[in-house]
Amino acid sequence: MVDNRGPFPARAFPMHQHWLSSLGVEHPLIQAPMAGSTPPELVSEVSRAGALGSLGAGYLEPQAILDQAARIRAQTDRPYGINLFVLPDEFEADLAMVDRLRARLDALMEREGLEVRTSLPARWAPRYSEQFAALCEAQPAVASFAFGLPSAAQMGELKRRGIVVVGTATSVVEARAWAALGADAICVQGAEAGGHRSTFLHEPEDAMIGLFALLPLTVRAVEIPVIAAGGIMDGRGMAAAEVLGAAASMLGTAFLACPESSAAPAWKADLAQVEEHRVTTIRSFSGRAARGLRNRYVEAMPNTAAELPPYPVLNALTAPLRRAAAQAGRADLLSEWCGQAAALARGLPAAQLVAGLMHEYRLARRSLAG
Ligand SMILES: Cc1cc2nc3c(=O)[nH]c(=O)nc-3n(C[C@H](O)[C@H](O)[C@H](O)COP(=O)(O)O)c2cc1C
Repeated sequence: MVDNRGPFPARAFPMHQHWLSSLGVEHPLIQAPMAGSTPPELVSEVSRAGALGSLGAGYLEPQAILDQAARIRAQTDRPYGINLFVLPDEFEADLAMVDRLRARLDALMEREGLEVRTSLPARWAPRYSEQFAALCEAQPAVASFAFGLPSAAQMGELKRRGIVVVGTATSVVEARAWAALGADAICVQGAEAGGHRSTFLHEPEDAMIGLFALLPLTVRAVEIPVIAAGGIMDGRGMAAAEVLGAAASMLGTAFLACPESSAAPAWKADLAQVEEHRVTTIRSFSGRAARGLRNRYVEAMPNTAAELPPYPVLNALTAPLRRAAAQAGRADLLSEWCGQAAALARGLPAAQLVAGLMHEYRLARRSLAG
């Protein structure tokens, strides 16, 4: 166990030597995987611009993972990543609770004038083991995982194929678990982070650690590179994370606002006006705690684990409602995931955003150098 209580190690790498450069990625910058919002067009544009694009594949069936990977490959031969949620293949649902929730959701849709109603899906979620096989076949440069740890056999398979493994952690304990499993790097998600955080060894409320606390603690605890995520919206934030020991920065909400992201236009339009005190932890869309905007839907629905079916059951039930709300331009009824600093979003095309972030990052580094 690394526990350096002496002077803190200087981690200001010369830019050409950062960790991602060993993978052929020019910039120490990763576009976060965001299931449902990071289509091949966004991923390939980011990778072409010299950062690492990431396909959030958690909601995709295996064939869709292969198709989207092929679309990325058709656009660029630069490195990119695929991200999965580590989940069981099958889920048991409490059908009485499901019925109660469906009645409540349907009543809300009726009150709000949307014609859509809930229905029981054929499956609650794609099978993780089949998604994993598709990921291996797609053979991206990087595979990242959230919500849990792959098996040792799966880690062996990734290593055999030369795929770099990034684990996602929300505490030092989780980061140590990833390091012990043999991850090549760890992404730490501070509590600021938008969307679902990866928390898998704690209750979500026990893992609400801000990035400025979690990052240096993790850098001290593990020997592998640590990637910073949560609330970073510009190049200054990237430089700040680097000072605290980050090998790279991962930005989600900043890329959500790009024209290439598939977030609903009404949701994108809300991002720049987000008031940080309205960015909160929401269970009522998916059954799992996720960070997003407190909107009309959130205020109308219960928000405790006791009142809601767990993930992915509730996520599957609300998916058609969220799609219908997006089509109707009703951002106030859809899951407006975003990090705490969402109002700094710029909505630039992805390649311009990467160039702008790197410009700011270089300026910030220069001013830190004195
Ligand atoms: C809309 C949205 C969807 C997300 N989906 C995923 C996902 O599929 N997998 C994952 O590991 N993280 C996911 N995240 C979390 C991001 O990977 C990242 O940790 C987070 O966006 C960083 O915080 P920021 O949004 O403040 O930049 C998502 C975040 C957002 C905003």
